[in-house]
Amino acid sequence: MEVVIVPDAAAGGELIAEAIAALIARKPDALLGVATGSTPLPIYRALAAKVASGAVDASRARICQLDEYVGLPAGHPESYRSVVLREVIEPLGLSEASFMGPDGSAEDVQAACEAYDRALAEAGGVDLQLLGIGTDGHIGFNEPCSSLASRTRIKTLTQQTRVDNARFFDDIEQVPHHVITQGIGTILDSRHPILLATGEGKAEAVAQTVEGPVASIVPASALQLHPHATVVVDEAAASKL
Ligand code: GLP
Repeated sequence: MEVVIVPDAAAGGELIAEAIAALIARKPDALLGVATGSTPLPIYRALAAKVASGAVDASRARICQLDEYVGLPAGHPESYRSVVLREVIEPLGLSEASFMGPDGSAEDVQAACEAYDRALAEAGGVDLQLLGIGTDGHIGFNEPCSSLASRTRIKTLTQQTRVDNARFFDDIEQVPHHVITQGIGTILDSRHPILLATGEGKAEAVAQTVEGPVASIVPASALQLHPHATVVVDEAAASKL
């Protein structure tokens, strides 16, 4: 596991945007897995700036989603599909056709999960998977005690994660209880997972991810098993390393 400490969130965003730019230069139709939450926003802004200036041609890039809420109405502004369209697809000037994600409104959610897992493999696999980290060490929505071999499936959110994510909704009652997430095994199939963590609130989870044992109680620690995983942390998130 490669750990890179940067001064602040903006520097982390720039560094990872550079890595994405290098990947796209080498493989224009790369499949880029994107995460939601506040942490990756500096990456998307830095990448969009490179596209706007003409330094990067992302027109053939393909984007895929890491996770999704179950049961939000289609077009809900906080569905992760809406968030990715707003924060990634539109700023990069891509079309919806270049974007794939799990169907959180499917009648048969389990079948939708399996179909998405298969679709990722059939698309050639994820070249670079961006990840944030939950305060409890989750990646995607793989909450503590998720199987390290898990595939895309439905999960129940912990109360802590619902509290953490309530800021995106009017009140906590609106935060869904169920989600679809790429499994830890699915994430480990990506060729290059890159986790970005910023701020002191992530310091404990980062320390356990990087220096603790590989354990399902800290799902992000599974990245230690990947031959080419990168963890980018700002100084605050690195404060307990
Ligand atoms: C959610 C997402 C994760 C994300 C996490 C942290 O739970 N499913 O992918 O990493 O939030 O979000 P933030 O970056 O806003 O702290």
